[in-house]
Amino acid sequence: MSVRPDFSRKAELAGTLVRLVPARREHAAVLHPLLADPEVARLTGSVHSTEAAADVPWTVEQVTEIYDRWSRAEDRIVWVIEDIATGEVVGESVLHELDSGNLSCGFRIWISGARDRGLGSESVELTLRHAFEEQGLHRVGLEVYAFNPRARRVYEKAGFVLEGTLRQALLFDGEWIDAHVMGILAHEWRARQRT
Ligand SMILES: CC(C)(COP(=O)(O)OP(=O)(O)OC[C@H]1O[C@@H](n2cnc3c(N)ncnc32)[C@H](O)[C@@H]1OP(=O)(O)O)[C@@H](O)C(=O)NCCC(=O)NCCS
Repeated sequence: MSVRPDFSRKAELAGTLVRLVPARREHAAVLHPLLADPEVARLTGSVHSTEAAADVPWTVEQVTEIYDRWSRAEDRIVWVIEDIATGEVVGESVLHELDSGNLSCGFRIWISGARDRGLGSESVELTLRHAFEEQGLHRVGLEVYAFNPRARRVYEKAGFVLEGTLRQALLFDGEWIDAHVMGILAHEWRARQRT
């Protein structure tokens, strides 16, 4: 019997380097300062200038309200990424924009203060496993900016395929940046698990 996607089921996912814990309102206090990371703001397209990247545009109260809402959302699952080595929360991994009719959703991720140690790669693997094996999805898609080769590398390693380019999709520091559209399908995911 095939599984139907149900994003109100928010399970904890355990790996070797990271634990993905469904985000709750209590996580806002620890996530709020991480959101001030200029690299996260720039690479996620949250701001339009280096100057703006240093500010968090939300108060702790606003972030608390957002995570409270997301903890009950039926169209997204937000996990905080816990670094097992330190026990610290270092970012978030997200399945969002659930389209139940087409068995598809979007993906996004950010990490602050613990990059380049393999945590992102493992978080992507755990999130995709949940999407395909536990939620029965057919497709997961994302967008990555052309000025973010590290994220693109992580996505390609996980099996995401380049599907197209949104030309000049982001204006940052007065320059136009392309956004690449990538996706991975369930049969591609399963084929990778057999190799
Ligand atoms: C993207 C992100 C989640 C990746 O997580 P991470 O823990 O830093 O990444 P990992 O350590 O697992 O892997 C990084 C990979 O990129 C490679 N890499 C690092 N810098 C690179 C660069 N400039 N160009 C190409 N590859 C690069 C590393 O060598 C590694 O690949 P490998 O495992 O084959 O050696 C994290 O860096 C991040 O949050 N960045 C800021 C926000 C962001 O970019 N979010 C994604 C928006 S689409």
